[in-house]
Amino acid sequence: MKAIEGEGLRLRPWEPSDVDFLVAAMDDPEIRRFLPHMPDPYTEDSARWWIEEGSVAAWESGGAAFAVTNDSTGEMLGGAGLGSVLSRRLQGEVGYWVAPWARRRGVATRVTRVVARWAFEGGLHRLELLTARENPASQRVALAAGFAREGVRRMAGALPDGLWQDLVVFARLSDDPEGPVKRVLPDFPGGCLTDGVVRLRPLGPADGKDFRELNELPEVARNFIGDMSKLEQRCATAESAWLAGEMANCIIEDAETGAFAGDISLNYREAFTGQAMLGYGLRPEFRGRGFATRAVKLISDWAFEAVGVSRLVAGTFPENKASQRVLERAGFEREAVFKSALPLRDGTRTDNVQFVRHRAAV
Ligand SMILES: CC(C)(COP(=O)(O)OP(=O)(O)OC[C@H]1O[C@@H](n2cnc3c(N)ncnc32)[C@H](O)[C@@H]1OP(=O)(O)O)[C@@H](O)C(=O)NCCC(=O)NCCS
Repeated sequence: MKAIEGEGLRLRPWEPSDVDFLVAAMDDPEIRRFLPHMPDPYTEDSARWWIEEGSVAAWESGGAAFAVTNDSTGEMLGGAGLGSVLSRRLQGEVGYWVAPWARRRGVATRVTRVVARWAFEGGLHRLELLTARENPASQRVALAAGFAREGVRRMAGALPDGLWQDLVVFARLSDDPEGPVKRVLPDFPGGCLTDGVVRLRPLGPADGKDFRELNELPEVARNFIGDMSKLEQRCATAESAWLAGEMANCIIEDAETGAFAGDISLNYREAFTGQAMLGYGLRPEFRGRGFATRAVKLISDWAFEAVGVSRLVAGTFPENKASQRVLERAGFEREAVFKSALPLRDGTRTDNVQFVRHRAAV
């Protein structure tokens, strides 16, 4: 057991006087949600057990359990550790938490870099970092500290009451750069895109009700490819998909009132060819006002300029003249008809009239 330092932090073994800090810091819904193995309620006895036994066992099993403090003031900030060490494979897993009052100051990012540096210097070759899909803050920490997203471990995380959750796997190798990992889909500058009439902002967990109502409209549902029972889950994991570089899923708002007008998504699953696909839908009361055209223009310009997309395609049903007109007005041209390319909810299929806008034409 030893202390390590770096980036303005001192990481040291837990001490008996840390009980009050642990009890205060653990009284937090985010910790209960994303560290579900923590005792709930977290009492002074829980803290004493951790200091005297739990953290000591982590060291004895070849890992580490640190209290994270400010190196000049001694202020206590959180906890971090190294676990699941497989010495034959020179691998381990980094974990961390920050007290609620010390968040958004870069503490977790710096802690992760310090622990990684120490673990690599100690001979490890690969470090993993696992987070819940619904925990974008932790996924941002991973990317900022040089851990690349590798995939999803299905139902790998144990929850209370015998439930399970998917875990997103990030990993860093000893010779990888310290980060940040370059993102395929950057954040919108200032958090949104707007032309003064419509505003696009990332879809989020609070949008479940509006998103479901929109996608259950028959004419919108007809275009929806995917599992309708998972609409709320899509909202809860939208930021994770964005950070993964897979999909920028946005809400279209009336810029004046902030009302939920519809949704628009940029699906970037073919990044290797530089091709992305658009999908969108509006609530009936916002149709016929140019909102869709404005939203398509905004996200297309962002896709070409900020993401570096080369080709942007959008599929339409042959009879969907309104959507085809939107695309033409937003600078797209009709490119091809793909026979029987689109699955319908009743199990049949229909042709896809595909429109395209490409970078050379911008
Ligand atoms: C996740 C957690 C450790 C982040 O700690 P932190 O010190 O606030 O993180 P940082 O200040 O280093 O922020 C890192 C990034 O996350 C972003 N971030 C932090 N909190 C966020 C939030 N609530 N929502 C979205 N992004 C957030 C920061 O803006 C920053 O992003 P950037 O690199 O794109 O600028 C902290 O929220 C926490 O303890 N949560 C509960 C326990 C937990 O989830 N532990 C991890 C389990 S895997």
